[in-house]
Amino acid sequence: MIILAIESSCDETSVAITDERKILSNIIATQIAEHKLYGGVVPEIASRRHTEAISQVCDEALKQAGITYGDIDAIAVTFAPGLIGALLVGVNFAKGLSYALGVPLIPVHHLRSHIAANYINTPELKPPFMCLTVSGGNTIITEVADYTKFNPIGRTTDDAAGECFDKTARALGLSYPGGVNLDKIATTADTQKYPLPSPHTENEFDFSFSGLKTAVVNLVHNKSQKGEEIDVPVMAATIRQKVCDILIKKTIAAVESHNYKTLVMAGGVSANSELRTRMQAECDKRGIKLYYPPLKYCGDNAAMVGVQGYYEYQSGNVADATLNATATLPINYR
Ligand code: KG4
Repeated sequence: MIILAIESSCDETSVAITDERKILSNIIATQIAEHKLYGGVVPEIASRRHTEAISQVCDEALKQAGITYGDIDAIAVTFAPGLIGALLVGVNFAKGLSYALGVPLIPVHHLRSHIAANYINTPELKPPFMCLTVSGGNTIITEVADYTKFNPIGRTTDDAAGECFDKTARALGLSYPGGVNLDKIATTADTQKYPLPSPHTENEFDFSFSGLKTAVVNLVHNKSQKGEEIDVPVMAATIRQKVCDILIKKTIAAVESHNYKTLVMAGGVSANSELRTRMQAECDKRGIKLYYPPLKYCGDNAAMVGVQGYYEYQSGNVADATLNATATLPINYR
C-alpha cells in the first residue's frame, strides 16, 4: 500500500512515500537555522515556513520515490498533538490531496508515529512491548498492546525531558536545539560540584522535570551574579546524567513490573548518547531486548507517519474532509 505521508507538527516540513514498513523516500526541510536566532521555535514563523515549503517537499518526495500522484493509495498526516498553526498546514494540504486524488485520508497521532519509527528496518519487532517516548514536548511510558492500542502508565506532570534539556542548554549559552548541543559538549558529570535535585512524583512511573530545569537556571544565574565561571561541559554532563538517571530508573521499573521482555525508545531525546548506552546496559543485564530508531528517524519526519498510517488504516482509522488539527491529544484517544 503506497502512502504519501505528511509531517508538519513543529519545525520540520516533511513528506515521505512509504509502502507498509518500507521507506521509498523521506524528504525533510528543517527550519532550525531560523528558529536558532530566537533560541526556540517561534510558532508563527513555523506555520509560514511550512506553507512555503510543503509543495516543493512533496514534489521532491515523489521524484525520489520514482512515482507519480496516480500511484498513491492513501494520504497520511500528523493531525495532533503539536503547534496548531503548523499542524493546520499539513492537515489542509493532506485534505486537498486526498480529495483531488480520490484516496483515503489517514489521521496520525504524532507520538504514535514516533513509536512507529522503530518498525523501519526491524521486521521482527511487533507489539506488545513497553515504550518510553521522550521528545521536546512529551515524556510518556506506555504499553503498546497493539499497533493502534496504547495504555499509558506514566507521563510527565510538567515539562518534557527535551524541554528540560533545551532550556538548561540555553541557560548555559548553547544554541537551539539545546538537547543535541548539550549532548555534544558534555564531558564528565560532577554531582559534588553541581548538586541537582531529584524530583518526586505521586505515581512511580510519572515524571517531573520543571524543578530540575529551574534549579539549573537558578544555579547558572547565581554563579553569574557572583561573577563566577560555570564549567559548561561538566554542568552539561551533570544535567544529562540526572535526566538519564530519572528516565532509566522509571522505565526499567515499568518494564519489570509489567513483565515485558521488549522495550522500545522513541522521540528526539532517544538520540541522546548517554541514554542509549546506559539503557542498553540495563536491558542487557536483565535480558530485555531494546530497540531505538536510527538517528535519522529520531527527530520529526514523515517516514514514521507513513508507517504508523498503514497500521491506522488497517484498524479502520480514516478521516473525512472535516478533519481538524488538535494541539493536545492523549496517545490512547481512540
Ligand atoms: O521528537 P522531536 O524531534 O520533536 C518533538 O516532537 O518534540 O524532539 C525534539 C527534542 C528537542 O528537545 C531536542 O533538544 C531533543 O529532542 N534532542 C536531544 C538530542 N537530540 C534531540 N536531547 C538530548 N540529546 C540528544 N542527542
